[in-house]
Amino acid sequence: MSWNSDAYISLLAQGVRKEYGSRSARFTAVETVDFEITSASAIGVVGESGSGKSTLSKMLVGLERPTSGRITLNGANIAQLLHFRGGRQDMRTSVQYVAQDTASSFDPRRTLRDAVATPLRTLRGITGSEAEDRIEAVLRVLMLDPRQLDRLPHEVSGGQRQRFSLARALVVGPRILICDEVVSALDVSVQGSVLNTLKDYCENRDVGLAFVSHGLPATAFVTKELVVMRHGHIVERGETSQVINAPSHPYTVTLLEAYRRRRTAATSAAAPTGHAR
Ligand SMILES: Nc1ncnc2c1ncn2[C@@H]1O[C@H](COP(=O)(O)OP(=O)(O)OP(=O)(O)O)[C@@H](O)[C@H]1O
Ligand SMILES: [Mg+2]
Repeated sequence: MSWNSDAYISLLAQGVRKEYGSRSARFTAVETVDFEITSASAIGVVGESGSGKSTLSKMLVGLERPTSGRITLNGANIAQLLHFRGGRQDMRTSVQYVAQDTASSFDPRRTLRDAVATPLRTLRGITGSEAEDRIEAVLRVLMLDPRQLDRLPHEVSGGQRQRFSLARALVVGPRILICDEVVSALDVSVQGSVLNTLKDYCENRDVGLAFVSHGLPATAFVTKELVVMRHGHIVERGETSQVINAPSHPYTVTLLEAYRRRRTAATSAAAPTGHAR
């Protein structure tokens, strides 16, 4: 079983719930949720800190096991897929995940070259000069210096590490890309370029994108659909423009107002206050 090249891929979560803690102190991070991302999706997941966005993302790629519910990749249960080598390989080739915590997603003792080249070798069997060319092409579009490949993960900045993490996923050529806060450590100009790259990459190659973020404008820019999470629930979902321009849930309204207030405050802080004579 393999879903490479141009096959349609669907990653489907049905009635998925995640509880943490012991029996005496249970905490539900994700309530019963249905969510689908396909190779044709561009879907944003927004919500306040702690609303369950990362937990949902991790369950979708098998890094967290749902307490209940089912996650399938083209109908195959991912828990079973991930159980054997061939299934893991199919899953990782089809679906790549960029973790929010880039510091811990790299092995601190291995160079960035090793980190980026390994999935290309193990998942695609690409090595040598072909691998080097692929890696350099991806680094170029992410505005990364290939000379940094020989550094260790902690020897580059947080923003650079975030882009190396994205590069490691993109070189594999997945059909679905799940990005958890991939531009949060980037300054505004680099953020704009990376978002453009990500959008073009996904649109031109029919790669499905799940973009998990606090940043509403960034999310709106790269997505067609939006999901709003609160306290582990999906409280609203719809076309991105519809949700932003005519939100139906009071929490979405509050979230949008908070964002607009922050933007106004940032604009006034940046404006000159003195009266020039
Ligand atoms: N391994 C864990 N053990 C216990 N609780 C956890 C664990 N991981 C997450 N949580 C809790 O689950 C809730 C949801 O966390 P999650 O990381 O999914 O939120 P988030 O929406 O991604 O937040 P942020 O925007 O800050 O990244 C939080 O209250 C968090 O403290
Ligand atoms: Mg998170």
